[in-house]
Formats: sequence, C-alpha cells, structure tokens
Amino acid sequence: MSSESLQLGVNIDHVATLRQVRKASYPQPIDAARLCAEAGAHGLTVHLREDRRHIQDSDVRAIKHAALLPLNLELGNHPEIVAIALGIRPDEVCLVPERREELTTEGGLDVAGRLEELAPTVSAFGEAGTDVSMFIDPDLDQVEASARIGAPTIELHTGTVCTAPDAEAERETERLVKAAVRAHELGLRVNAGHGINLDNLNRILRIPHLSVLNIGHSIVSRAVMIGMKAAVKEMLEAMAAYRGGGTA
Ligand code: PXP
Repeated sequence: MSSESLQLGVNIDHVATLRQVRKASYPQPIDAARLCAEAGAHGLTVHLREDRRHIQDSDVRAIKHAALLPLNLELGNHPEIVAIALGIRPDEVCLVPERREELTTEGGLDVAGRLEELAPTVSAFGEAGTDVSMFIDPDLDQVEASARIGAPTIELHTGTVCTAPDAEAERETERLVKAAVRAHELGLRVNAGHGINLDNLNRILRIPHLSVLNIGHSIVSRAVMIGMKAAVKEMLEAMAAYRGGGTA
C-alpha cells in the first residue's frame, strides 16, 4: 500500500455540538463539510445519535444532498435510526455501540456476541448498496465475526492506544497490528478511528493495511485555533508519512 492511499474521513459531529450547546443556527456542519472538501479530505463522517445531541437528521440530509465527498454515517443498531439511514442512503454506514449516558462512543461493537441481532441490519444495508463497517475493538474474535456477518469493512477502535500510558499503548498497538493483519487476510477493508490527534498519530501509522482514518474531535478543536481548512491540511500532511504494508 502506498502512502497516498491512506485517506482521511473528517468527523464533523462537534461542529454540530457547538451549535446545539446554544441551540443556535450556527456553526453549520454543511459549511464545515465544504471546507473539509476544499482542504482535500477524502470523506465526511457524522454520527446520528438516538439522543440527537449533536448531528440532526437535517444535517445528514444536507450533507448527503450536497454530495461534496463520500458520506460515512455512524449509527447504533436502533430501528428508527436504521430506517432513517436506509432512506438517506449514505455511501457507507459504520455500526457503533451507543449508550445515552456515554460521553462519546465507548468501546467497540460486540459483533461476536450479537451476530443474530446485527445480521438483519448488515444485510439491509448490503441490499441497499451501502458499504457497512463494524466499529470493533482490536480482538481477533470480533474481526472474524465481522467477516462472518458479511461486513466488507471494519473500523478498529483506537481510543485505548490514543490515551493509554506508554507501556499499555505499546501492547495495544500490537493488538491493533494483529487485528489489521487478520482482517486483511480475511479480505476486509480496514479503517481506524477514535481519539486520534497529531501527537498520537505516529502509533496509528504503525498499523498495516489501513484505508481510512476517521478523525473528529482533534481536527474540530484545532479548527477553533487555526481554521478548518488548515486543521484538515495539517492532518493530511502528517498522514502522508504512512507506509501501509509495514508492521510495528
Ligand atoms: N470513529 C467512530 C466509530 C466514532 O464513534 C468516533 C467518534 O464519534 C470517531 C471515529 C472519531 O473520534 P474522535 O472524535 O475522537 O476523533
């Protein structure tokens, strides 16, 4: 895999957080989406949560309608949200675990333990021609279950490696590398996301076979300081060091 092939999906949920915290009419995620596209991002990600704490249905529709970049919609396996997603037809959906009281998505989806519950949702999106990604912890069981359920893509949860002290981060990096290698052997596309910023990116770049990094909070935070386009560009420049096929 060449360095050019590592793509950046910008998660713009927290542009909506800033709007919703004051119930204001600004800032608008669709405006941020335009800036991400102009800066060279490869995709846009939003999470339509059941509690609608940040992204609203109208945001997803506006971003899909504008067709600036491929849209990856994150969602929990809730019938109401699944039905909305099937209607909007994003380019890709990423199934995530979701609890109302959490600060952000905590932990990966238990695909291995919830195969029966998840299978109809994976099939419904597959039949609609929407790529399905499973957001999972770097466990071989979860990787293999994602392949069994018929999802073409996994997104490895990088939250632990991004925040852990060095010794634990090293162990977690090894788990991520093994999970990515196994997923690649099984023919799955491998994405990664959660907690990635410019300071911890080097660890993430040690994971082989990556297609897309989905990065939100750190880019939106940097955008407050230096602007959205500059924040996207500096992340893209840092990601250019990726040498895909290497191992830890
Ligand atoms: N990937 C998934 C599946 C997520 O749930 C999130 C958070 O919404 C992200 C990536 C982005 O994480 P962060 O905002 O920490 O960059």
